Amino acid sequence: MYNMDTFEYHYKVKNFSDRVAFGFTKILRFLADTFFRKRYGHRAVVLETVAAVPGMVGGMLLHLKSLRKMEDDKGWIKILLDEAANERMHLMTFIEIAKPTLIERAIIMVAQFIFIVMYLFIYIISSRTAHRIVGYFEEEAVISYTDYLNELENGKIEDQPAPEIAINYWNLPLHSTLKDVVRVIRDDEAGHRDLNHKFANILDERKKQNSDKNLEESKTLNKNKN
Ligand SMILES: [Fe+2]
Ligand SMILES: [Fe+2]
Repeated sequence: MYNMDTFEYHYKVKNFSDRVAFGFTKILRFLADTFFRKRYGHRAVVLETVAAVPGMVGGMLLHLKSLRKMEDDKGWIKILLDEAANERMHLMTFIEIAKPTLIERAIIMVAQFIFIVMYLFIYIISSRTAHRIVGYFEEEAVISYTDYLNELENGKIEDQPAPEIAINYWNLPLHSTLKDVVRVIRDDEAGHRDLNHKFANILDERKKQNSDKNLEESKTLNKNKN
């Protein structure tokens, strides 16, 4: 379900793991909406501090797995580390737009601690669920940045020149404004969303292939016994 104008897309919940990932996302969305309401700049700063965590945790775990199993990673590690770096640049950009309040700084500290531990365990238990969670998180990020963009376009939030760091990072024209920055960031989020949903699908596919293979093997084994 793509909406070409707003880049919005939703991956339909298909199984228990998807439901857990979607439920978890909706709870966090509700908390963020309640706390930030229309303070989009502050929302972006706080949430981007969390958004840059999964790529690094996933990348690290796959790196360690590649070492342990002496197996190629199929390029996943670099993709995930790049995702983390890109999310950190979103943070470096929004910190020029809004400075977090004292309570927000406290939330960032606590949230980082809780989120790293949680995501680490989720990834170890079920990496497909972990990627699905990020897929759903990013669906929400696209929606939030579309809302932010609408407020900037209808003048409810005053537009301002783009921060220099953003102009350099995204190679934007020199006269770009915050609107342009929010647009390219939304594109990034849509990219991460599609990638993480795809990773979850690939992991499902691999699991299915393995169980098919095991079934085949046990069938041949039984045949030989008889
Ligand atoms: Fe982001
Ligand atoms: Fe994101």
